[in-house]
Amino acid sequence: MKKREIKIEFAEYDNSSELDDIDIELVESAKEAVKSSYSPYSEFAVGAAVRLANGVIVKGSNQENGAYPSGLCAERVALFAAGSQYPNVAVEAIAITVKTESSYHKGPLAPCGACCQVMLESETRGKRDMKIIMHGENNSCYVTSNVRSVLPFAFDSDFLK
Ligand code: THU
Repeated sequence: MKKREIKIEFAEYDNSSELDDIDIELVESAKEAVKSSYSPYSEFAVGAAVRLANGVIVKGSNQENGAYPSGLCAERVALFAAGSQYPNVAVEAIAITVKTESSYHKGPLAPCGACCQVMLESETRGKRDMKIIMHGENNSCYVTSNVRSVLPFAFDSDFLK
């Protein structure tokens, strides 16, 4: 038996104003996207914005459904919209944020496992690292430079070869 260790690296920002200008713009787009969230059941409004290699920003927000599992997270709404509108353009970065009236956690929003899996596919498909900017209502951020960092034991297309 060998004990192995996986270390992940991420950057922590107390305030999103410390980010580079293009990433500030992406966070602002994610905040914009929150406004179109349809989340009457959870009252947890999530916004996502993806920046493509051609500079285009595509936004998405969580879309819930009375049949709960039929809804979709903001990240996947944004990534699938980007994939269908710009199928051959790599995704450089994604920013996610949340707005809620209640006393939920105010720090950086972590993407759910299913969204991480979809991000991994985008990263692989684009053949380049995809930055993840997790933004919180208190304006702090965690930033990873790629998707592998949040999903080290990922199931990807290599298993299908
Ligand atoms: N949600 C997202 O949109 N993204 C995440 O990464 C976490 C959760 C949504 C799904 C649901 O509409 C609400 O937040 C509460 O789980």
